[in-house]
Amino acid sequence: MKNEIRIAIDGPAAAGKSTIAKLVAEKLGYTYIDTGAMYRALTYKAIGAGIDLDKAAEVEALLPGTEIVLKAGADGQTVWLDGRDVSAEIRTDPVTNGVSAVSAHAGVRTYMVDAQRRMAEEGGVVMDGRDIGTAVLPDAELKVFMTASVEERARRRHAENLRRGFDSSLEQLAGEIALRDKKDSEREVSPLVQAEDAVLLDTTSLSINEAADAILELVREKVD
Ligand code: CDP
Ligand code: CDP
Repeated sequence: MKNEIRIAIDGPAAAGKSTIAKLVAEKLGYTYIDTGAMYRALTYKAIGAGIDLDKAAEVEALLPGTEIVLKAGADGQTVWLDGRDVSAEIRTDPVTNGVSAVSAHAGVRTYMVDAQRRMAEEGGVVMDGRDIGTAVLPDAELKVFMTASVEERARRRHAENLRRGFDSSLEQLAGEIALRDKKDSEREVSPLVQAEDAVLLDTTSLSINEAADAILELVREKVD
């Protein structure tokens, strides 16, 4: 497809952003960029260094010596931190529960936003996160704000965990998701908020394919 556009997908935890963004990118032959993975990689590093995640100066001091690379592979995207594949490690509970603290620091956000803008320079990207339509790519050609009810999002994460081989309490998951949404929405720098020109897509009762088709239809409207 010519006219390769930039697609920004934002929304709360477990709304389906990465699954659907990946599928949309695949169908369009675009590059998928998971910005949450970059915040997770830094959080993993900070935890390993024994740093207090709430202390901006300590977390930010890690940045100059940190290299985070997203690589597209046959089995999807892998995330590399300082030359090591950390794709699995960044999905563990300590990282999930610590990432909102790390991503709230202004210096961290400036660093990540700069890197993400460079990654999207050529166009033909589907980027998902919390602030893509508002801060990273405010002039993206298509912005989608993806939501789903907290109950449905907890149910999806629960099913995902079961597929990965561990059972988790649905109630606890809902609590953790709600807390992360609250922290992401209330932080001072680039909070999670729907951009004025974003299309709202509620996936509560949509399958993955239905949600992807809805976005592909919006893309067609933009490029035709
Ligand atoms: O996939 P999930 O919704 O669990 O989260 P993620 O996309 O991997 O993002 C993890 C965390 O990184 C979020 O809860 C935010 O705290 C932070 N994040 C952010 O601040 N800005 C972004 N553009 C992407 C993620
Ligand atoms: O990236 P984000 O945190 O927004 O969500 P995700 O990791 O893409 O999706 C969370 C889980 O919900 C995954 O296991 C998806 O397969 C599942 N999902 C679903 O069951 N139905 C949808 N319409 C969207 C996602």
